[in-house]
Amino acid sequence: MLSVENIHTYYGRSHVLQGVSLAVNKGETVALLGRNGVGKTTTIKSIIGFTPPRDGRVQLNNVDITGKPAYEIARLGVGLAPQGRDIFPTLTVRENMTLAARGAAKGGWTFERILHTFPSLAQRLDHRGRKLSGGEQQMLAIGRALMTNPDLLLLDEPSEGLAPLIVAEIGRIISRLRDEGLSILFVEQNLAMALGIADRVYVMSKGQIVFNGTPEDLNGREDVMHQYLGV
Ligand SMILES: Nc1ncnc2c1ncn2[C@@H]1O[C@H](COP(=O)(O)OP(=O)(O)O)[C@@H](O)[C@H]1O
Ligand SMILES: [Mg+2]
Repeated sequence: MLSVENIHTYYGRSHVLQGVSLAVNKGETVALLGRNGVGKTTTIKSIIGFTPPRDGRVQLNNVDITGKPAYEIARLGVGLAPQGRDIFPTLTVRENMTLAARGAAKGGWTFERILHTFPSLAQRLDHRGRKLSGGEQQMLAIGRALMTNPDLLLLDEPSEGLAPLIVAEIGRIISRLRDEGLSILFVEQNLAMALGIADRVYVMSKGQIVFNGTPEDLNGREDVMHQYLGV
């Protein structure tokens, strides 16, 4: 589904991603972990085209999307719920979602189906974004990303700033989306949640991937957990 091959991404002269490679297979849920500032968001932005890599290659379904504009990458089937959610605070839930709608229902995600997946959004269709709780705002950000009918869903820190019960609910939602066939790459600081739902895990440090394996593999690597995840 997604193949990121040895990408190098810069902010001006600052060489942030230094040869990142990772893959998401069809139907897989993959976690990208690591401390603050190691380049997780930059990896997400490099995939969706906000910060195009200067070197290396990104492929989606065997199509080279490196350097394509973000709108085109989105159209090719990549949805993003960005870090910080970025929903429109003055627009309603319904407006936030319908603004993102993409014509052809290729992935089969209709407004109705999304509301079925997020019943709490269905009950708040006419509430403005800013009136929602943090958890509801995250659900809206994910629901909005699904309105583009993605094959691959990118989630950047979906549990950030949420209370434990809500984190668990977001985790269940991600698992359910996976069960419905989506391929998912998510960045996460909540290790327990990430290891509970991911098929595979990558750990980043200083712009590079330093570990790749299953949650069980990572659990057995106290050195990696300690050095790169601070646990
Ligand atoms: N717009 C930007 N301009 C310059 N440097 C940036 C920008 N965004 C992020 N950085 C730097 O790039 C590095 C990686 O950031 P980021 O990808 O956001 O890390 P993470 O998501 O893992 O916390 C950090 O050192 C950060 O300060
Ligand atoms: Mg980040």
